[in-house]
Amino acid sequence: TAEDGHNLWLRYETLNKAHVIAPQGGKTMQIAIEELKKYWNGKDIKLVIDKRLKNDDGFIYDADSICSHSEIGLLYGVYEALRTQQLSTNSNAGGYSAPKYSRRILNHWDNLDGSIERGYAGKSIFFSSKLKGYDWEKRIMEYARANASIGINGSVLNNVNASPKILTKEYLDSIKNIADIIRPYGIKVYLSVNFGSPMALGYTKTADPLDVTVRNWWINKVNEIYSLIPDFGGFLVKANSEGQPGPFDYGRTHADGANMLADALAPHKGIVMWRSFVYGAKHKGEDRVKQALNEFKDLDGKFRNNVILQSKNGPLDFQPREPYAPIFDNMKHTKQMAEFQITQEYTGQSKHLVYLATMWKEFFSFVSPDCLVGIAGVSNIGDDTNWCGHPFSQANWYAFGRLAWDPSLSADLIAHEWIQQTFGQNINEYAIGDMMLTSREACVDYMMPLGLHHLFAFDHHYGPQPDGYKAEYPIEWCPVYYHKADKNGIGFDRSSKGTNAVSQYREPYRSMFDNLQTCPDEYLLWFHHVPWDYKLRNGDTLWDELCGLYYRGIEQVVSFQKIWQDAQPYVDEERWSKVNVLLQVQLDNAKEWRNYTLGYFQTFSKQPIKYDFTGVS
Ligand code: GCU
Repeated sequence: TAEDGHNLWLRYETLNKAHVIAPQGGKTMQIAIEELKKYWNGKDIKLVIDKRLKNDDGFIYDADSICSHSEIGLLYGVYEALRTQQLSTNSNAGGYSAPKYSRRILNHWDNLDGSIERGYAGKSIFFSSKLKGYDWEKRIMEYARANASIGINGSVLNNVNASPKILTKEYLDSIKNIADIIRPYGIKVYLSVNFGSPMALGYTKTADPLDVTVRNWWINKVNEIYSLIPDFGGFLVKANSEGQPGPFDYGRTHADGANMLADALAPHKGIVMWRSFVYGAKHKGEDRVKQALNEFKDLDGKFRNNVILQSKNGPLDFQPREPYAPIFDNMKHTKQMAEFQITQEYTGQSKHLVYLATMWKEFFSFVSPDCLVGIAGVSNIGDDTNWCGHPFSQANWYAFGRLAWDPSLSADLIAHEWIQQTFGQNINEYAIGDMMLTSREACVDYMMPLGLHHLFAFDHHYGPQPDGYKAEYPIEWCPVYYHKADKNGIGFDRSSKGTNAVSQYREPYRSMFDNLQTCPDEYLLWFHHVPWDYKLRNGDTLWDELCGLYYRGIEQVVSFQKIWQDAQPYVDEERWSKVNVLLQVQLDNAKEWRNYTLGYFQTFSKQPIKYDFTGVS
């Protein structure tokens, strides 16, 4: 169709008027030249390789020249030039721009059968058979180009719940094909591996990381991978979590496991990204949010140099709001990466308009970007024509890349960049920007305000199920475990009088979160069990405030609908209608959240819902 959102934020007009002066180079240089020739609206433009500049993907972009140490740096400069051209303010031009992190990686949770764990935009572009042949190659190239345009330089192609089969020759051959297509765009391939692979594939009797046959198997496997993909990035590992095998199965530590893989990868300069999302293992039964740090703290300093510990932004699991994960405060001698979830598992999936850059910036307001060496984002793309399902979910992919390049950029600036490039300059940009910037808070309000968490329906995690309890499930999967509502009040006491999860935080946060009087409202019920009649700082009781916030969330969505009505003249019919329909779904869902959740909590609070709402039924 004429307008299906397939072109993302890359909507340059074909001009074919630029004269590009460039040195001889490889494929990346060719791409840089072609992009400029086609889309640059100036006349002469020069690409310059300057080996005196740092070799860090950075570039200098001036009015008529782009200069970098490397070809990929030049390509990034070209996309910066084209971005600037699309924007009404050209403030980005000039000076040296280099990424904060050398690893800016998408994590795809794609399964080998083409399905995607927590994917809401179709099937895997890597593993689904639908796209074979020329279209497939084209799609992979478009994927790589979109990533390069925002500086993403790595892709973990398969699910962290990894099938051992990914390491068989059949799959490695197709991974090589993908690597060859995306390499010119500066993107390295990484794989998730199943820790039990050698045993599961029938080569060894054990997967014990200290067993010589196991170690040799991994060394040989890694060598085989590098013979196919010389610039292979490395492994991502989820071990001893949610049923995945790991070193604990053999009485070994996470460090034993990670280091074994690291040793196999080191001669090739590959890395291991070892996830700290571990619960239900050694510290089973303990408050789940404390388990990651308790599993890893004694191992600080024991990992090889090419191991990076990868942790989710919060200590639980990608909730609409969580306090930051305290593991970032504590592992002083271990390299760390943050894992953000671009795919909206717990924020309305591809049906709700929720712009996540504000959430990620909130994380960075607690965790300094300086204590990380890289950043990973769980991708939201699939083989849907528009890549991400919801047209506005594309903004989350965009924002992830921009923040991975420069975490000091504001959520506001990134939103405006995205709006102008995606919808042009005539749209009611400020209203749309406000909508995006307030959308995450709206989602928190209508789903689980005041620090409530994990009130989600089992398994699919889309709608509400605050009363959820199943004896056959681990208690950490049951919503009732998290809100602990009773006749006295609601919330999870993690203060020093409760599970003492606050003790994992650095000051001033430890004391601030511990004390009911100083704990920020946004985290109140995360850290405290609070009486229904407790008076909040604004004078309202907890119950009244809770009700008010559910209504506020709904009113926000109503205001988004108004803003979108006003945008109609500036947006093509197809994307406009799609968003319009989805906003109605979002509103209906928000009401369902309010009705179900407040209705259920009311059975404990025994108080009326007094909120004087303005006509939202
Ligand atoms: C969440 C998600 C799972 C995923 C897990 C992980 O629990 O629901 O699908 O596998 O996170 O990050 O490993």
